Amino acid sequence: MTQSILITGANGLLGRKLVDLLGGRKSLRLIATGKGEKRIPGTDFEYVSLDVCDGDAVRYVVKETRPTVVIHCAAMTNVDACELDPKACQAANVDAVRFVIEGCEKAGARLVHLSTDFVFDGADGPYDENAVPNPLSVYGKCKWKAEEYVKVAKIPAAIVRTMLIYGVTPDMSRSNIVLWVKKSLEEGKTIRVVNDQYRMPTLAEDLAAGLAEIVFREKTGLWHLSGAEGMTMYELALKVAGHWGLNPELITATDSASLNQPARRPPRTGFILLKAQTELAYRPTSFKAGLNIVAQQLLNYAR
Ligand SMILES: NC(=O)c1ccc[n+]([C@@H]2O[C@H](COP(=O)([O-])OP(=O)(O)OC[C@H]3O[C@@H](n4cnc5c(N)ncnc54)[C@H](OP(=O)(O)O)[C@@H]3O)[C@@H](O)[C@H]2O)c1
Repeated sequence: MTQSILITGANGLLGRKLVDLLGGRKSLRLIATGKGEKRIPGTDFEYVSLDVCDGDAVRYVVKETRPTVVIHCAAMTNVDACELDPKACQAANVDAVRFVIEGCEKAGARLVHLSTDFVFDGADGPYDENAVPNPLSVYGKCKWKAEEYVKVAKIPAAIVRTMLIYGVTPDMSRSNIVLWVKKSLEEGKTIRVVNDQYRMPTLAEDLAAGLAEIVFREKTGLWHLSGAEGMTMYELALKVAGHWGLNPELITATDSASLNQPARRPPRTGFILLKAQTELAYRPTSFKAGLNIVAQQLLNYAR
């Protein structure tokens, strides 16, 4: 049977990497959806405008396009904006997931849903899939609530938690830590970066490849997919400076309390990747090689 995959939030970083990976494959119909106009280059896929907060639109598009799988990437991903506007976070990160589930149930589609390391409190990472969530922020709480809806959905479903995605695409709507550090240092700006938040940064291409394995191997249940190397955000910033030969003295280490951001962040997350390595043959790129990929893509996009 020909697979048809519908991606929500396809204009975002992960969505676009999925379109790059899956577009134009023989015996695969790809339906990219995003809020508003198509901002993804290329034509080897269909594009449908879809606001996932509009329940009628979600049900209509899923019914009309009849996907066999939905990969739900759309989300309100700015953690501080979520903290400041919990209603908007609830709408985009919980209610929308219920609409997507309803659409999948009606169409008989499988669901692959994206979640986050922010479901954990970060007291004792790295975490495996059996660890018990205890979110600290509105974003983390909403993403966990959404997971609970996916768990009881009447369709085969996978929940994929990831963290600190980095990468580049043309015309991005949101930056990420690697691009922000690089741009700031190139402009000679001083930056303060926390040394009390530990993460395993995830190359967007690795995550897209892991998701494809989940789709094609028809996996369900909980999955942790991230990079394999842990570091503090400060260490990450130094690595970015070193990679592009930028001045590390512009980077000052600070702590989360001094930064005083609206949303609390978990101090130490990170994932144990054994399940993904064993069952998906998931082999994430090293951080150094990931930066090389980003550097090459930046050169290609500038041409
Ligand atoms: N980025 C990370 O570090 C990270 C970490 C852990 C988990 N995750 C999860 O991974 C998934 C993908 O994240 P990402 O990095 O690709 O984020 P992203 O680049 O911010 O992409 C999210 C996309 O969702 C779209 N969107 C927001 N509200 C929407 C709506 N109502 N209807 C339709 N689309 C909507 C955005 O549209 P616009 O482009 O028009 O704004 C954007 O294209 C999300 O579920 C996120 O929670 C991300």
